[in-house]
Amino acid sequence: MTHADGDADMPTFSKSAPHPKERRLILAAAEDPDFDGTIEAYEGRGGYGELKKAFGMKPEDICKEVLDSGLRGRGGAGFPAGMKWKFLDRRSGKPIYLICNADESEPGTFKDRQIIHKDPHQLIEGMMITAFAIQAKQAFIYIREEMPHGARILEEAIEAARARGYVGDNILGGDYSCDLVVHRGAAAYICGEETGLIESLEGKRAYPRIKPPYFPAALGLYMCPTIVNNVETLCNVKHIIAMGGEAFAKIGTPGNTGTRIWCLSGHVQKPGYYEVECGKVTYGELIHDLGGGLLPGRKLQALIPGGSSAKVLRAGERFTGKLRSGEAFDWGIDDIPLDFDSPMAAGSMSGSGAVIVVDDSVSIVEVLANINAFYAHESCGQCTPCREGSLWMKKITGRMVSGGARKEDAALLASIGDQIAGRTICAHGEACAWPTQSFVAKFRDEFEAAAQRNPDEWKNREFRLV
Ligand SMILES: Cc1cc2nc3c(=O)[nH]c(=O)nc-3n(C[C@H](O)[C@H](O)[C@H](O)COP(=O)(O)O)c2cc1C
Ligand code: SF4
Repeated sequence: MTHADGDADMPTFSKSAPHPKERRLILAAAEDPDFDGTIEAYEGRGGYGELKKAFGMKPEDICKEVLDSGLRGRGGAGFPAGMKWKFLDRRSGKPIYLICNADESEPGTFKDRQIIHKDPHQLIEGMMITAFAIQAKQAFIYIREEMPHGARILEEAIEAARARGYVGDNILGGDYSCDLVVHRGAAAYICGEETGLIESLEGKRAYPRIKPPYFPAALGLYMCPTIVNNVETLCNVKHIIAMGGEAFAKIGTPGNTGTRIWCLSGHVQKPGYYEVECGKVTYGELIHDLGGGLLPGRKLQALIPGGSSAKVLRAGERFTGKLRSGEAFDWGIDDIPLDFDSPMAAGSMSGSGAVIVVDDSVSIVEVLANINAFYAHESCGQCTPCREGSLWMKKITGRMVSGGARKEDAALLASIGDQIAGRTICAHGEACAWPTQSFVAKFRDEFEAAAQRNPDEWKNREFRLV
């Protein structure tokens, strides 16, 4: 496998039969062994029927269905898609752009590439419905550089859709035209941040823009109103048109509607991606039932519930409080519902939907050292707290795992994290600070011990930073 073909023979973890606790909406065709992802197979399952239906509707009515559906963004922040579309500055008279964020850069996340590889037309159909709904002049799929095979699949699929009149000039023979192009990314985590992505798409270095004023819905691509949505978010639009916003809102739980694809990795028997109804399955069920449980003889040490930037949860912790609905909760890790609001109520987040299981076979200090090495490498360098702080955190956890740490290092590490979060241009500041803040707070004993360890003790330990 060469770098240029990095995703060509990627493991797919595909499963033909869904687990009884799964509900496949987005993955229904993709995981069907008889489905090959071609336009013929897609049309054979009724594909592009929702595009035809949507083109018979008024654009504002499509936007209303998406608003009513309660669909929340699947890229990280969980912001309601219909609300974001409402924020588009239509009074400026400038062209509107649509961008699909297929950068999929958060460590632990591998769902978007599966959709792209196995069911590219679902994404194209979702995008063209969205483009029509927001009256976009041009649409883009920004895909990360390391996924050249996915980019080729999309390019071929777009050509097939164009030949059928689903993309390009006079779509379905009507007045509306919108082209869709694939743009290969710049191979950096920060290209997934929406304003960094926009800068990159404009041909520049992916320096995130400050918000306000540069909210993409007002000042996005070429300073024009722009919608950036994640792959999975845009695929959902097709299903909302199929069943209507109200029916979609009945899937999942109030405020956490639809299904969600969770990427399960780390120390579990059956790592993979699993699509379940939001809020109807817990983290415990994902790990122990769908994921087959922990590895033999091992105990859970920690859980990262939503991608490497999410705050860590320590095994044995209890989470208590009140939900937005006013309902009181008292959960252990296993009881937390898999949705948007519950991990947040437990002090973390669902983020990009990447669930990383850490058992007792590894040093928790090494886990953070790896995470810190990643974030230090990926800081774009514009803001001093993020640029310097991420490097200092990497340096301190580095010396903790390789000997030579200082007694005050645990406290120093925590204080650096505290001085980054909330003081930067983009959320990479939080993304790099939250792991350190939460790991040190929850595993203070381990970090204190690492800081005081005799340097010779870990000198010859095998440890490889990412
Ligand atoms: C550092 C950083 C990296 C991000 N990477 C991604 C990514 O790879 N894919 C993604 O969809 N969103 C990513 N996001 C979130 C995007 O900025 C944006 O919120 C998202 O694409 C919006 O789509 P959604 O509303 O459909 O979730 C990232 C955010 C940050 C701060
Ligand atoms: S927070 Fe970090 S990644 Fe974001 S703009 Fe500042 S330096 Fe760049």
